[in-house]
Formats: sequence, structure tokens, C-alpha cells
Amino acid sequence: MTEAQIGECPPLLFFDTGVGGLSVLGEVIKLLPRAPIVYAADYAGLPYGMKSEAELAARVPALLGRLVERYRPALVTIACNTASTIALDHVRSALDIPVVGTVPAIKSASEQTKTGVIGLLGTRATIRQPYVDRLAADFASDKILLRHAAPELVYAAEAKLRGEKLDSNIIQGAMSGLLNQAGGDRIDTVILACTHFPLLCCELAEAAQRPIQFIDGAKGIARRIAYLTKNMSWPVESQEGIFITTGDLADITSYQPAFAKYGIIRFEKL
Ligand code: DGL
Repeated sequence: MTEAQIGECPPLLFFDTGVGGLSVLGEVIKLLPRAPIVYAADYAGLPYGMKSEAELAARVPALLGRLVERYRPALVTIACNTASTIALDHVRSALDIPVVGTVPAIKSASEQTKTGVIGLLGTRATIRQPYVDRLAADFASDKILLRHAAPELVYAAEAKLRGEKLDSNIIQGAMSGLLNQAGGDRIDTVILACTHFPLLCCELAEAAQRPIQFIDGAKGIARRIAYLTKNMSWPVESQEGIFITTGDLADITSYQPAFAKYGIIRFEKL
């Protein structure tokens, strides 16, 4: 991206460990189709779900600081539940632009459940966060929230977007782990509390073998971003989206068709 482009219309920057942020970006593009996009993936740090709170509280603000310096975005979206539930406050204090986080959609799930039993699928790190406890206490204190960590779904979503065939046992195992807990038979609403998981929504719905509604926060985040950027004038035509990885650029080749569907066609290394 040239200085001139940066000056004319700053991009929206999305951040995740891998392809998960596409589930958020997809909803944003529907509302803001001409917004310039920079999508950053911390592949060198994937999976965040297996990292410690201290490590992520240091790593995420440091990386976003470098990315903001390089691309001068109008706004940053942390399109990752693990990073948001751990490092959102750290990032907000490190940056002087708006930062939108992605946190488990417990409020919506609580409003929509009929049985009063909600399932939450996330990474190992996300499901143990005090942030999640607070959301549950604030918005679902009269409901039962059953949590299950499904780190294997992160790799399944990555594989799907590389165009590989999915192992249905992995999807089935994750759903069974959630639904076979005590009380799990009454779950009617499942929060997808990792941005990778909505990319597997159809497969998860099939594996549930009964009607369950799946909820994630992407639409709400898109509305929030549209609101925060309502005074911006976007370019007349949609721009080439930029992808940037902390990992090896050669590893990205197999993902390129998936990213192209979101208008991301330039690939760079951080
Ligand atoms: N997509 C990320 C999230 O929403 C996590 C993936 C990972 O473990 O790196 O939590």
C-alpha cells in the first residue's frame, strides 16, 4: 500500500491467528463493500487457544502496534475471541484508534434460548476466561451455560479453507463433547466462541443430529464497525484487500482462493 492510498482512505484492519477472522470480515464486507481491508494473521502464533494469558497479553498489543504503524488503519478489529477476551484492554491502552473486539455472544444466546441451556464452544484459553464468567453473570445468570473446548476445530477450519477434505470424526467429536455433558441434551443454542468455528457451521449443524441454533457475534460487530466509521467516505470502487502473515508466505498459497472470495488478493509478510 502506498502512502498516497493510506492518506486517501485508511483501511480497516482485521486480526486473527489464521482464517478465523474471515467469519467476521464476511459480515463487514456486506455492510461496507468498498472499505479498504488489511487482514493480518499471526500464523507464527497459532494456536492462541493453547497459549497463556501472559503471553497473549504481551504478544497481541505488540503485533498490533507494528501493524498499525505500517498500515495506519482507521480502526482495528480483533477478530479472535481468545485474543479479545485476554488482551482487548491491553490493546486499547496501547493504541489511539478505535479497537473492536470479538467476544462470545452470550447476551444474544441468552435472549434466544427456549430451554435455558446454552452451549459454548471455544478454545481452551477462551472458555476459562474471567471475561466469559462476567458475560455469563451479566447476561445469562438465569441460564445454564455449558462450555467445551474444541481446539481441533481451529485446525479443521484451516484445512477446509485450504480446500482439503474434512474429517467428519473431528467435527462429530467436538459436538459430542459439548452435547454429551450432563444437561447437554437440553442445549438448544450453541455459541461459536472462536471465529474459526462459524466457518464450519454447516458441518457442526449436521453433526448435532437435532435442531440447534448456532450464534456468533459477527453481524453485531459489523454493525458496530459501520457505526464507528459512518463519517468516512470510502473509495468509489472496492480496493484490493491485503493479507499479511507473521508466518511463512509460502504457506499461504493454498489459502489464496479462499481469501480471494473476500477481495483479498495481495499477500505480504510482517
Ligand atoms: N480464531 C481464534 C479465536 O477466535 C482462535 C484460534 C487459535 O486458537 O489460534 O479464538
